[in-house]
Amino acid sequence: MKFHVLTLFPEMVEQGLRQSILGRAAEKGQLSFHMVNIRDFTLDKHGKVDDYPYGGGAGMLMQAQPVYDAYLSVTEGIGTQKVRTIYVTPQGRTFTQKLAREFSREKELIFLCGHYEGIDERVLEEIVTDYISLGDYVLTGGELAAMVMIDAIARLVPGVLHNGESAETESFHNHLLEYPQYSRPEVWHDKPVPQVLLSGNHRKIEAWRLEQSLERTRQRRPDLFALYRTQQDTIIKLARNKRKHIHLMEWMARGMACMVCCQGENLMVNVEQTRIYGLYVESSREAGRLAREYMSYGISGQAQIDLVVCQEAAKDLLTEQYGFVVEETCCQACYTRRESLRVEHQNIRPLGENDLEYVSIHYKKCDKTYIHQRIISGAMYGVYVLDGEQNRLAGFIGTHRDGSMGMLYVDEAYRRQGLAASLESWLINRHLKRGETPYCQINENNISAIRLQEKLGLYLCNESMWWLRKGI
Ligand code: ADE
Repeated sequence: MKFHVLTLFPEMVEQGLRQSILGRAAEKGQLSFHMVNIRDFTLDKHGKVDDYPYGGGAGMLMQAQPVYDAYLSVTEGIGTQKVRTIYVTPQGRTFTQKLAREFSREKELIFLCGHYEGIDERVLEEIVTDYISLGDYVLTGGELAAMVMIDAIARLVPGVLHNGESAETESFHNHLLEYPQYSRPEVWHDKPVPQVLLSGNHRKIEAWRLEQSLERTRQRRPDLFALYRTQQDTIIKLARNKRKHIHLMEWMARGMACMVCCQGENLMVNVEQTRIYGLYVESSREAGRLAREYMSYGISGQAQIDLVVCQEAAKDLLTEQYGFVVEETCCQACYTRRESLRVEHQNIRPLGENDLEYVSIHYKKCDKTYIHQRIISGAMYGVYVLDGEQNRLAGFIGTHRDGSMGMLYVDEAYRRQGLAASLESWLINRHLKRGETPYCQINENNISAIRLQEKLGLYLCNESMWWLRKGI
């Protein structure tokens, strides 16, 4: 991802961004930072970029021309595609994790940093797409605000954090603050580490951490706590039929999705990372009401809807009245036990970028860019078998961006040896360790994959589930 920063203080921003994790990601080519000094574009022979505001008032304003020419110097190199241009200003929408995730999907972003009393309105009207504030206070300039935003956005770019998957499911997403953490020594200033953390009992530790998170959120952020409670109530309702709703429950429990609306038995949630929406309604009569709200949400530009995952009632309505087309009909399966599964073939490890070619040749259902992203997020795993002296990649599996297991493939030469079962069992164990309920959605015609789910002890839902894409 490429960040262009239009600023009067390029060294300040550059210095800040070239450290630590972002610095390393830039060296590896995962991120790129391009500083543009607005002063280089002034036509004033003394290098002036500001002037008095018409109508009087305190301070100076940055003039339109140098800002505009600095902007053009970036966009002329990009071509016709419109690049989101963020003006950091206390007058904008407040920056949140949700916005960070939205911006992290862009290939390039332009940040415009103001100074003095602001920037001539006319140039803002021409170039700015988003007005974003760090919070309700005023800084001396936009540079620090831009650096904070870039940091929060960049760490969500796949591959920037080593364990990219954790950025997809970390706290804040599910409305809870982090629990307190402790490191050595065991006693410091007469304060011992809470006993439970030394117990080695992971279930107890998890329970303690959740309790701490809840209490901390309730005290420090009652607003977040209220959201958490509403969502938990919904998850409990959905749990009455886990097989049918596991995807919605897991999206919310893992902090990947938020509720867009919820009325009685009807629910719509959004997995922000993917523009996938889950729509659940009890009957087609009720579907109408929710779908209207749903569509207005998408059409009003608050959200772009790529895919909808739903069951029959909503499917009929969306295809008949809203021009959605069925992409796939699936059967959902979930593993509800807590015990991990035995993995016969143990030689399983994360795939690297070198494996992209192999995966994209053998797995045609997802495009290469998507597979690449899953690999660098650390979400794809290969099974290796000994071939002469060498370990050879013989199959793979992965976790999709919405958290479901999938992309299972075993080389023809190695089929019927239990490799697929080992891969899936291994991935199930991995989800269990993270406190998640493993689930998958399998094409209804893929009989062998459905049999595999039964063999591994997953429960199949007896109702179909549809993947709908917006028609053209
Ligand atoms: N520039 C000055 N104050 C700011 C703020 N609070 N957020 C973003 N940009 C700013």
